[in-house]
Amino acid sequence: MYHIEKKQPIAVFDSGVGGISVLRELKKIMPNEDFIYFGDSKNAPYGVKTKEEVRKLTIACATGLFDQGAKGLVVACNTATSAAVRVLREMYPYIPIVGIEPAVKPAVLCMDHPRVLVMATPMTIHEEKLHNLIAKYEDKATIIPLPCPGLMDFVERGDLDGEDLHRYLEDLLYSYRNNQIDAAVLGCTHYPFAREQIQRVLGDQVQIFDGGEGTAREMRRRLAEKGLLREEERRGNIVFQNSLADDTKIALCRRLLQIT
Ligand code: DGL
Repeated sequence: MYHIEKKQPIAVFDSGVGGISVLRELKKIMPNEDFIYFGDSKNAPYGVKTKEEVRKLTIACATGLFDQGAKGLVVACNTATSAAVRVLREMYPYIPIVGIEPAVKPAVLCMDHPRVLVMATPMTIHEEKLHNLIAKYEDKATIIPLPCPGLMDFVERGDLDGEDLHRYLEDLLYSYRNNQIDAAVLGCTHYPFAREQIQRVLGDQVQIFDGGEGTAREMRRRLAEKGLLREEERRGNIVFQNSLADDTKIALCRRLLQIT
């Protein structure tokens, strides 16, 4: 049986560097905790793979993090969450495991019957989890799912304000500019790093939502419920790991964590 103590780190996992957008929220509300951040950049992108492939990769990464003694796991990847969070909870019922899902609810409730664009990877868009979420709010909003293949790659390269990204977004979002939508949901953890560019293309009147903060709060709640939060005042430590052997992804993770 897995032994859990307060002093063990919280693991955060993503297919690459995108989960840093969730780690920064975790760090804000639990600054005294230690974290291990693992990015599977070697196998990224997950969003264009099959559900079975993503499930296998996610289970392998999660198992590695539990072997290192994580006291909880944040699956900071919408794609991996829809493919594998249920099975992970069955495999490790005694460890708090929190996934992330597109922030459809706050976007739908931001005004009376808004037009909401949900941006996510092709796999997240096609998965049952998102279809169920959309069905739940269908009578309260017009919800438009938009697969964004290739968008995560800009972030994975650290290309956050170049002309190429701007052109890609102008093409992708062409039909939704000029007041065609009221809100946009960033349903992939890489996308918050392109938030300003997305806002620029869609226009200032569009409200943008992501699930990072809600996911961080849910992890804190789950740890508190099990008496696993650290109580002492201290500055937590973050260890970055990546399935690619070179250090460039780790350097990018550090850089992204500075961007708020
Ligand atoms: N960051 C991931 C997500 O939240 C997926 C990116 C990818 O690997 O395609 O969905």
